[in-house]
Amino acid sequence: GQGERVTIVEMAPRDGLQNEARLVDTGDKIRLVDLLSDCGYERIEVTSFVSPRWVPQMADAPAVMAGIARRQGTRYAALTPNMRGFEAALACGADEVAIFASASESFSQKNINCSIAESIERFRPVAEASRHHRIPLRGYVSCVVECPYEGAIAPRDVAGVARQLSELGCYEISLGDTIGRGRPEAVDAMLNAVLGEIAASKLAGHFHDTSGRALENIAVSLERGLRVFDASTGGLGGCPYAPGAAGNVDTVAVNVFLEKRGFSTGIDAGKLERAAVFARSLRSAA
Ligand code: HMG
Ligand code: MG
Repeated sequence: GQGERVTIVEMAPRDGLQNEARLVDTGDKIRLVDLLSDCGYERIEVTSFVSPRWVPQMADAPAVMAGIARRQGTRYAALTPNMRGFEAALACGADEVAIFASASESFSQKNINCSIAESIERFRPVAEASRHHRIPLRGYVSCVVECPYEGAIAPRDVAGVARQLSELGCYEISLGDTIGRGRPEAVDAMLNAVLGEIAASKLAGHFHDTSGRALENIAVSLERGLRVFDASTGGLGGCPYAPGAAGNVDTVAVNVFLEKRGFSTGIDAGKLERAAVFARSLRSAA
């Protein structure tokens, strides 16, 4: 369509597959990324350079990065929690890297084994290196409305972590409803606080769909001026350190939702459906 642009950042190969109970073949991961590349995304998050003891599903990150066919116009991104991860991502030719913090102390400990303040210090050299190598740096804040261990999270805590990631040089901060329990009113209150620190043009919404409210939360975010959303084709996903988290909102549903509201995403719906069929085939039997 000709409408205002909204960018969908594709999460299935990373957030989607990191939580699959069985290990997905490297070749199938590469095929998934290639099918997604065909859809016309600006950005696809391909994998994570994390400890294979923490997330065994992402242990083949270098092989996936080496095997994918790169489409011109698509940036292939990876999570890099520390310098070791950054150097590995750089060696694999990642076009973009992401650091990931949490608004919840308990989740920070469970997910990356350190406090929020320690995580910011750990990210500092990654941020410097990304600047040096001119690789765009994205930042995530997890548990922006609720934490699986602490319950409700205060909006000012989210705003504080988002500001610190922005100060580190992240060009965009993705706000994660990690366990997908956020109600639209809570998301709106959180955004109100974060927008006091950071412009809407530097924010992305990352909604898991555990409670079936992800599209409502996207609607609230659109009203607040956000124009970038993370989504996972086939609804794959969850987080291994967030018990009960369902997949990210399905890209197919987000694309239909946005186009109906007159936004343009640049995604080829027919090719997306083909990728979704393959993505769903990778899901473990429930
Ligand atoms: P640690 O144990 O504190 O760190 O883990 P360490 O430095 O002591 O290293 C432990 C082991 O990991 C060592 O190996 C290191 O060499 C190795 P060992 O000697 O025991 O054999 N190691 C690495 N290996 C490969 N790549 C690396 C790396 N770093 C260390 N980069 C650490 C700290 C951060 C490494 C660990 O906690 C970790 O990998 N956590 C990742 C957890 C994760 O990936 N979670 C899912 C992504 S976040 C998410 O899904 C939320 C999001 O979607 C948004 C939302 O929904 O809210 C983004
Ligand atoms: Mg997530």
